[in-house]
Amino acid sequence: DRPLRQLAADDHLRVGTAVDMSALADDAAYRRLAGSEFSTVTPENVMKWEAIEPRQGEYDYAPADRLVDFARKHGQKVRGHVLVWHNQLPSWLTSGDFSADQLREILHRHITDTVRHFKGRVWQWDVVNEAFNEDGTLRDSIWLRELGPGYIADAFRWAHEADPHALLFYNDYNTEWTGPKSDAVHDLVGRLRAEGVPVDGVGFQGHLGIQYGLPTGMAANFARFDKLGLATAVTEADVRMPLPADADKLATQAEGYRLLLDACLRTRHCISFTVWGFTDKYSWVPGTFPGEGAANLYDEGYRPKPAYRTLRSELAGR
Ligand code: G3I
Repeated sequence: DRPLRQLAADDHLRVGTAVDMSALADDAAYRRLAGSEFSTVTPENVMKWEAIEPRQGEYDYAPADRLVDFARKHGQKVRGHVLVWHNQLPSWLTSGDFSADQLREILHRHITDTVRHFKGRVWQWDVVNEAFNEDGTLRDSIWLRELGPGYIADAFRWAHEADPHALLFYNDYNTEWTGPKSDAVHDLVGRLRAEGVPVDGVGFQGHLGIQYGLPTGMAANFARFDKLGLATAVTEADVRMPLPADADKLATQAEGYRLLLDACLRTRHCISFTVWGFTDKYSWVPGTFPGEGAANLYDEGYRPKPAYRTLRSELAGR
């Protein structure tokens, strides 16, 4: 059978996965599927600030470089994740006693050094991640508190200076459908574009759960971002469920994945569809939502689930 990446290529789409670097090192079955089924990869954790600069001024790019090398060997592109976020910041930064001016300089340097290090090797960067609350107000974070809302535009400008060819994305969750949060993202990127800030795309993470009901109107929502002249991408798709899994839940899950992919395929400049891991063997879900899981395309023994077959036929059917 042709892998997902080949089926997607016929639709001019890249299909990707987040990669867990310990699994990639230790698990041959994981490594084989990561290389064969996908045409882009996203580091699940190793490009985050706490991983890259664990102590101030001491950089550790080695694990991220290993993924970038893996991608090159397998003809894959890389989604860089993530430059500015409120989470997984190093403790020297969050517990340090820095002035606003110092923090601005620290953020500038982080973006510049990181983007330069991977220059020419990262296709899309998640420049700013999860900056909004559910009601569409800006999320309280060290960046908003200390630098004010202008940190967002600055981050895009600094990233663009460091690698003018990388595609720069704003990325968030619960923005796949229309509502206060996606309205706020739409306003933001519309304004940034109008001001000439170098934002190229919007990422919709795509973390769904079958117990919440599957979202409607995703294609229409993606379309209004497309209209702004922006690329779009599904960046972290997974569809969790209350455990244990059963046939009905797996069928609903498959439909959730199908809806996300369908929204992307209907959107002219939706350029990649990325799942947040591909096997239930390694997933962030059970650790964050106890009692939930089974969110991925393959089960813990790497048997393909209905969701995997559904993505295949959705890609092949166009
Ligand atoms: O690095 C420590 C390690 O030293 C320690 O031994 C280990 C013990 O638990 O923890 C390690 O840190 C973990 C880290 O992943 C690196 O593996 C954290 O506990 C764990 O909470 C963290 O979870 C990650 C999560 O982001 C935290 O923010 C998940 O793996 C990752 O899948 C998840 O990804 C996010 C995206 O970046 C943004 N969108 C939402 C998505 C899901 O939450």
